[in-house]
Amino acid sequence: MSAKLTKNIDWVGFVDWNVRDFHSFDTWRGATYNSYLIRDEKTALIDAVKAPYVGNLLENIAAKTDVGKVDFVVCNHAEPDHAGGIGELMKHLPNATLVCNTKCKNALAGYFDNVDSWRIKIVDNGDSIPIGSRRLMFINTPMVHWPESMFTYVPEDELLFSMDAFGQHIATAARFDDQYDLTTILREAKSYYANIVTPYSKQVLSTLAIADKTPIKMIAPSHGLIWRSNVPVIVDAYKKWATGQYTKKVLIIYDSMWESTTQIANAILGGVLGESADIDVRMLHVRKSSLTEIATEMLDASAVAIGSSTLNAQVMPQMAAVLTYISGLKFSTKSTVAFGSYGWAAQGIDYLGHWIKENNWNAVCDPVKTKFKPNKDVINSAKEAGKLLAKATLKTTS
Ligand code: FEO
Repeated sequence: MSAKLTKNIDWVGFVDWNVRDFHSFDTWRGATYNSYLIRDEKTALIDAVKAPYVGNLLENIAAKTDVGKVDFVVCNHAEPDHAGGIGELMKHLPNATLVCNTKCKNALAGYFDNVDSWRIKIVDNGDSIPIGSRRLMFINTPMVHWPESMFTYVPEDELLFSMDAFGQHIATAARFDDQYDLTTILREAKSYYANIVTPYSKQVLSTLAIADKTPIKMIAPSHGLIWRSNVPVIVDAYKKWATGQYTKKVLIIYDSMWESTTQIANAILGGVLGESADIDVRMLHVRKSSLTEIATEMLDASAVAIGSSTLNAQVMPQMAAVLTYISGLKFSTKSTVAFGSYGWAAQGIDYLGHWIKENNWNAVCDPVKTKFKPNKDVINSAKEAGKLLAKATLKTTS
């Protein structure tokens, strides 16, 4: 399987139709590991694939050229979804030199015992390798997504191999953004950003500054569809996500044992809508939504209400998992309120209050809590909390 990007540059990667979990990222549309073959006076492969699919990659290369003709294998990123197959790949490419930066070589040495037996060319930021009518230029992009990450740029084609950046987890026979529903691609790109890239938004902004100065006709990421018709659309989306821009959205995430916390969640929802019908308010029960979905919805939400019943003197377990995940992703600060029910003591709601403080989110009011079923006063407090969240949202998005 292959697809032509431009003259003598082809996609030769692997479509993983059935992968559904990517280190806890819910890949419900599957994924691709994109690898690209450039045939010029020299032949270069840009990135590899996950270890089990090296045979497929080699078949795709062999359909285009003699594998003995591959001169360079560029490793933009050492994470095993791309570099996991490099050890096996190098065995089958007798004349290939691995091209990577020093950090990448060190990371690969952490995965493979025989790195020192490979021919390796170390490159640094701004270096380039001539391959005939083209050059491969290397741009270090540390922490997008790992410390060693880099882009490879072909100036003659204005083509950027962007590794994880601008990627999406979508298994499809289509290869380009104009061959697939754009709304779905952007939705998956947003999910990818929220779940993988968010903690490194500062570094993304530095990378985007480079992209602004670089003519780019096509962005070929290492996952999903290649951007050729909507380059400005995805670059603008990345600018919005990396700067933590809010939309008029309030998210209510909660878990409930016997529906008392659900009743408070509903009252908060009513309070938001009572204040403004223009606000996009969404409720997600954390045991009925995936971590991936919650993080994706949270990326651009201005306000997030967090509710949990108290179970065994703790917050509900799935809420604890969600909060651990969200802390790591380091979203932009949200307006918030903690809420929930308890039977004997309100330790679960106390936990939420501590989490909010530790993460420097802005509580719009005291926690809304109830012993067993919420009475009228609690419901009114919840509605008031919803109004305050709506006001904070309108303020931050005006
Ligand atoms: Fe697709 Fe960070 O690996």
